Amino acid sequence: MKLTADEQAMLDGAAGPAKQRAMDLLVRYAEALGADRFVDTTNIAGVPGSSTLFLQNYYRQKGDASYEAVFSQFDLDSDEIVAVPRMEVHSCHLQGGLDPVAWPEQGFSREAFEHQMEDEAAATSHGIQMLKTCTPYLAGNVPAKGEHCAWMESSAVVYCNSVLGARTNTEGRESTAAAMLTGKIPDWGFHRDDFRHATHLIEVDVPTESVMDWGMLGYFTGQFAGESIPALTGKLSRPDLVRHKHFGAAAASSGGVEMYHIPGVTPDAPTLDAALGAKKPRVTIRYSALERRRIYETLNSNGRSEEVDYVMLGCPHASLEQIQEAARLLNGRKIATGRALWIFTSRSVKGMADLTGLTKTIQNAGGTIMTDTCSAIGRFVPKGARVVALDSAKQVHYLPAMMNVEAWFGSTEDCIRAAIAGRWEGVCP
Ligand code: F3S
Repeated sequence: MKLTADEQAMLDGAAGPAKQRAMDLLVRYAEALGADRFVDTTNIAGVPGSSTLFLQNYYRQKGDASYEAVFSQFDLDSDEIVAVPRMEVHSCHLQGGLDPVAWPEQGFSREAFEHQMEDEAAATSHGIQMLKTCTPYLAGNVPAKGEHCAWMESSAVVYCNSVLGARTNTEGRESTAAAMLTGKIPDWGFHRDDFRHATHLIEVDVPTESVMDWGMLGYFTGQFAGESIPALTGKLSRPDLVRHKHFGAAAASSGGVEMYHIPGVTPDAPTLDAALGAKKPRVTIRYSALERRRIYETLNSNGRSEEVDYVMLGCPHASLEQIQEAARLLNGRKIATGRALWIFTSRSVKGMADLTGLTKTIQNAGGTIMTDTCSAIGRFVPKGARVVALDSAKQVHYLPAMMNVEAWFGSTEDCIRAAIAGRWEGVCP
C-alpha cells in the first residue's frame, strides 16, 4: 500500500486508537482486494454500531454491550474497546429492523424497540444521520456524479453507480464504519474508470414501459449478467427514478449487478461504445416476450392460494409519488376485512406523506405506512399472514423463503386490487 502522510499518521495512532483500528482494518481490506492506494470518500452509508438483541446478549456475555463496545469489536474488528469519536465525513445510517411506532404490529418486544432507540441516540451523538432507509437518495443523500462513496445495500449501490454516476463498491458494515472515521476507502473496483465498462449486452425486444416491466427486466438482467456490468438497448421507455429503483433492485437480487448502462440515459454511457469502453460485448442476449413470460412465471412460482392476506408495497422504500399512486388507487375504498396493507418508506418521505394528507388517506382505507425497515429485512409479516402480494421483484426473491409464505408478483394496481378484494387477480401483461 502507498499511504499518504495523513493515512500513515492515522495508522500509527496519531489520530487516536479508533482511527488507528479503522486504518488497520482498511489496510488489511485493501490488501485483500489488491488495491495499492486509498481514495478520499465524502459520503458513507452503513449501519455503524447498530445491534440486534441477539448481538447485545452476545456482547453482554463478553462483559460490555455498550455502543462503543459493539462499534470497537464488531465494526472495527478490535479486541480492545476504544473511545469512538464523531465521524469524520458525511455519514448516514441505512435501514434498520423495526418501525419506531408500529413495532408492536410487527411483532417486536418493547425491549427491542427501546434498544433500537438507544442505538439511534448513540449513533446520532457520533454525527451519523439517521435516514433509516434503503433509499438514502430519496431522503436527502444524493451524491454528485463522480463522488467517491462507500455504501452498503445492494439496491442503493446499483442506483448510486448507474443513475447518479457516483462511485461505490458494495461495502460491508466494517468497511463503512472504518470509512466514516477516516474518510478513506480502497481505490478499487467501481472507483476506477476502467472497471466501469459493460461486458454484457441485452437487446430488449419487447416494449418495457411500466414499473412492473422494469422490475421483470431487472430480474432477467441479474440472472443473465450475474456480477458483471450489463448495457441495455432496444425497446426501452426512458426510465424515471421509480423504474430505475425497481430495475436495479431486481438486478442486484437475482444476480449481483452493481452497475448498468443504458446508452443515452445513464450518465457514464452517452453512447453504447462509451458503455462498452470501445470493446465488443463478451456476451449478447435478447430479451423478448418469451423471456418476459418466463420471468413473470418465475416471480409467481410461489403463489398457490388466491386468498391474499397481506399486501406489501415499498421495496425499495417507496417514493412520495408511489405513495400518492397507492392513495389514488385506493380511491376512497377500504381494504378487505382481515387483510393488511403495509407500505414501507423512509422517515423523510413519510413526513411529506403525513403533511400532505396521504398517510391519512391510506389509514382511512385500512392501510399503514411504516418506516425504517421492511418485511424481509425485519423478518416479519402481519400475524397469521400466509399469502402475500408484492409489486417488487426483489421482495418476491427474498420473502417467501425467509418467512415461509406464498407470494404473488404484479403491478402496484394488481396489489391494491388484491388488498381491496382479498383475492389475487393479476395476469401477465
Ligand atoms: Fe429496502 Fe427491504 Fe427492499 S430494506 S430494498 S425494502 S428488501
